[in-house]
Amino acid sequence: MKSFVWIMLLHPLLALVMIQQASASPPPAYEGRRLYVSYCQLCHGTGGKGDGALAKAMKISPADLTTTVRSRSDSILTKIITGEGKPTISGRDRHNLINEAMPEWKNIFDKSQIKSLIAYLRFMSRAKHSLMGDPKVGLELYQKYCKVCHGEDGDGDGIMTNLLGIMPMDHTNSNETNSLTNAEIIKSILDGKGRFMPAWRNIISQGDVEALVSYIRLLSQ
Ligand code: HEC
Ligand code: HEC
Repeated sequence: MKSFVWIMLLHPLLALVMIQQASASPPPAYEGRRLYVSYCQLCHGTGGKGDGALAKAMKISPADLTTTVRSRSDSILTKIITGEGKPTISGRDRHNLINEAMPEWKNIFDKSQIKSLIAYLRFMSRAKHSLMGDPKVGLELYQKYCKVCHGEDGDGDGIMTNLLGIMPMDHTNSNETNSLTNAEIIKSILDGKGRFMPAWRNIISQGDVEALVSYIRLLSQ
């Protein structure tokens, strides 16, 4: 323990890295996607268009979340998902009334999970490009290779930026990431960009780069 304290005193930079790592938490849309895949995709479909496998079997039409969610506030979305606040929203919008088989999600998710789910619904309604590889693999690679420059949250303020005097791309800006196609992002990662964005071609495999593309997109807010 003593030597640990010494390391922290001697290497302020290292201390910073450790503190950054301690506070690591996945971005809301990433967490929301995880829950969506387990609990919602079966009806609402992979891209949120309401074409999930169960929907077809049950002959019901779940909402196309990519269009409906835009006009809804967070508080209404919370009520629809949890099934709470019945008197204030009209019958059609109440999720648990849609179908007898529909669970009341309020007993399943806590507040922060609902927030993450909403972040992912908003992500789907904005997304112009589909996700490619497994974001979980992307998260691990991002932590290992990218966050020193692009920052834990992806907003481009990693600890290396001050040292190098650079401004990496802000991945939390959905307009910026949406303006790039998957192929363009893959090319920048494999071949590098400008003076300071390294080329990862010989370090990260093509499949893993695709996983990074998914993770980078989920960083957008
Ligand atoms: C058993 C199928 C089913 C599952 C599972 C399901 N939904 Fe739905 N959902 C529906 C149906 C059907 C509707 C359409 C309601 C309508 O338009 O009357 C709907 C509507 C919605 C709406 C309202 C859209 C709008 O703005 O009008 C939201 C939001 C929503 N679902 C979110 C979710 C989330 C989040 C999950 C996972 C936690 C989920 N749903 C799981 C069937 C399902
Ligand atoms: C040494 C710092 C550094 C590291 C490490 C780094 N980047 Fe970058 N990155 C940059 C800088 C600087 C830019 C802006 C380049 C420019 O536009 O000139 C950038 C830009 C990008 C862009 C935008 C490219 C475009 O076409 O506009 C993507 C995507 C990206 N980085 C992904 C990654 C990924 C994924 C990793 C980890 C595998 C990573 N970066 C690691 C510094 C870094």
